[in-house]
Amino acid sequence: MPAAAATDLGRLWKLRPDTIYLNHGSFGPAPEPVLAAQRRWKAALDEQPMDFFTRLHEPAWRAARKHLAEWLGAAEDNLVFVENATHAMNVIADSFPLATGDEVLLNDHEYGAVIRIWRRACERAGAAPPVIAPLPRPFDDPEQVVEAVFAAVTPRTRLIVASHITSPTALTLPVEAICRRAAAAGIAVCIDGPHALAQLDLSLDALGCDYYAASCHKWLSAPFGSGFLYVAPHRQASVRVPQLSWGRLLPATPAAWFEEFIWSGTRDPSPYLAIPDAIELMRSVGLETFRQHARELASYARSRLIDRFQLPPLATRHDDWHVAMAHVPLPPGDARSLQQALWHKHRIEVPIVDWNGSRYVRVSCHLYNTREQIDVLVDALDQLLASEA
Ligand SMILES: Cc1ncc(COP(=O)(O)O)c(C=O)c1O
Repeated sequence: MPAAAATDLGRLWKLRPDTIYLNHGSFGPAPEPVLAAQRRWKAALDEQPMDFFTRLHEPAWRAARKHLAEWLGAAEDNLVFVENATHAMNVIADSFPLATGDEVLLNDHEYGAVIRIWRRACERAGAAPPVIAPLPRPFDDPEQVVEAVFAAVTPRTRLIVASHITSPTALTLPVEAICRRAAAAGIAVCIDGPHALAQLDLSLDALGCDYYAASCHKWLSAPFGSGFLYVAPHRQASVRVPQLSWGRLLPATPAAWFEEFIWSGTRDPSPYLAIPDAIELMRSVGLETFRQHARELASYARSRLIDRFQLPPLATRHDDWHVAMAHVPLPPGDARSLQQALWHKHRIEVPIVDWNGSRYVRVSCHLYNTREQIDVLVDALDQLLASEA
């Protein structure tokens, strides 16, 4: 795509002009048309709360869910809205049947908070502490990744938790193959998928996972506070809502598992109700347009950073393992102070990740990001690292 076209689309995001924002992967802001849709829902709520909560809310919730479900390739009754992937993961951890001695298997690229959630769930159930499988380095062949996961499976493994795209390392894991092999072994799979939305095509019913947790406020660019939980039909009966309320306001008689999630107490549901607008905006931009721009820019960032710092990345090829995020090692040093200096001295927001004892930069590329911003980042890193030495 010509750079000018991407820049035009990028203007839909109203970001602060003093900031070079290269962290859509952590907190992905919504573009203006999506925020406008959210504001319309919020106004409807504020202008007549009784009408909104008792008559409009449930049909709107169901319509928004139908829209999201179609986009995700899922039956709508397999989905509920939750505020974020963290909430979804907590519901799964509170619901999954674990007994003394059972094992939950994660890997060394999983998100720290997700490991904490499973540590607590295992402790509470008297299960073994979560098992963390080390994945191979470098990432070259997806089959080696699958082998590394299953090398840590034991007769006590009940559940595998794996990211669709990992947080500290931005790698796309071969989740289809993991699901297939786990199903054959009778092991449940929970996919932690907040980065996958919009970066990858999803077909959740076909994927064969038991659970999928995601946030829509990352790459899909829906409003903050919008996410979903997917549960395969054979797991739905055991789902337990952590925050019990009426389930449905009127009538207060939840029957299906998902109805417990429609009403969990009075709250502002406008982030959920604006998800269809985020989907339609990305559709009208063209998902391929977004992906091509993001991939090209991330790949440019990767080659410039590798060129500058001469350290081998975790994945042998960008296009086989990454989409919209570049992930490149930096010379050893303190990650936190470098990230702070990038903001305070250069007005760049980008995560510097301390992962398995090494320091990396993870560069997120969305439609509003440009090659010039990457050039500024490379020069800023160069300067700051020279002053560290
Ligand atoms: C892989 C992964 N899982 C879970 C989360 C948590 O997402 P949220 O804060 O939206 O709940 C993140 C956030 O960055 C993530 O990268």
